[in-house]
Amino acid sequence: MNDSLFIKAAFSQKTERPPVWMMRQAGRFMPQYWEIKNKYSFLEMCKTPEIAADVTMLPVDLLGIDAAILFCDILVTGEAMGGDLSFTQGVGPKFANPIKNARDIDNLRVDVMDNLQYVADAIKVIQQRLNGSIPLIGFAGAPFTVMSYLIEGGSSKDFKLTKLFIHNHPDLAHKLLSKIAAVTADYLNLQIAAGVNAVQLFDSWALALCWDDYKEFSHNYNVEIISKLNRKDIPVISFCKGSSVFAPLMAEAKPDVISIDWNADLKDIKHRLPSNIAVQGNLDPHILYADKHVIKDRIHRLFERMRGENGFIFNLGHGIMPDIPFDNVKYAIDVVKEFRY
Ligand code: CP3
Repeated sequence: MNDSLFIKAAFSQKTERPPVWMMRQAGRFMPQYWEIKNKYSFLEMCKTPEIAADVTMLPVDLLGIDAAILFCDILVTGEAMGGDLSFTQGVGPKFANPIKNARDIDNLRVDVMDNLQYVADAIKVIQQRLNGSIPLIGFAGAPFTVMSYLIEGGSSKDFKLTKLFIHNHPDLAHKLLSKIAAVTADYLNLQIAAGVNAVQLFDSWALALCWDDYKEFSHNYNVEIISKLNRKDIPVISFCKGSSVFAPLMAEAKPDVISIDWNADLKDIKHRLPSNIAVQGNLDPHILYADKHVIKDRIHRLFERMRGENGFIFNLGHGIMPDIPFDNVKYAIDVVKEFRY
């Protein structure tokens, strides 16, 4: 695996072209996803290793990406700790028992790896199917982002309850974040032990926070988690929306790769980071709605900017939207794969 484009780029080694994978590559923009989704609930899909493996393999077989990502969700840690999680079409994730007070936090369990064993089982099935062809990325949600779902009870536009909670009850927020961080480190180590080749920490909603709050309620816990990982030759990718601003701070957690949202000039960010930290990103996913010549032009523009840089993984600045045409995604991947530095 250490010879794969993805692992080499993640460790800031020279590659003949940037490797490519896309956040949310195993999902609803693929008609083949719906053939499976119509038969099972989302959580059934995650919890049945053969089905999770089938979905993980869709973009491998249909798109030819350079890394697979485990099919699961960032909220399964919250569920394992005691959150009553469901996913409803058109509504998104819901926790029916949102966290409101100290007792709710005390009731959350931290010794929960048995509840997440299905993920280890899925990883083993996926690795058999991949059979050494490309690396498999495992992942988890970062404590702040998972906490926001546990407090809001679902997705939020303004994170009003979460911010009120950290501002009015910082001690309780830290208690909750510490519990999630402990589970998250165990969970990523469980995935590493089961055989993933890289891990990505998703702090999707960090962009909601001001600098001081990001540092105190998000970053510090990501540092703790990354420091606890059994990394060996497993690259660690740190992603957040907000990385255009937070990347220099994210670097202090010593990930191997920082995944950058689409607001930043990728080269500029890369030069502000230690040279042994690779960058991943950062095409605006909306570009994938556009005409093919626009897609090609924008990808080439990004590559021109990154020419001569070691440590660049092509990805989007955030996940693929469900209504992006499959053909356009496939086209973008082909454009990346034809490119040579
Ligand atoms: O990237 C992949 O293809 C691997 C699988 C994956 C899913 N979710 C599958 C999924 C990954 C890596 C995630 C991460 C995730 N989940 C994040 C972080 C990444 C990001 O986009 O910021 C977040 C914030 C979630 C929480 C979540 N899960 C939401 C808000 C939703 C509903 C809205 C939406 O975008 O779908 C989900 C559901 C979900 N997770 C689906 C999939 C394929 C859709 C389920 C369905 O079929 O209805």
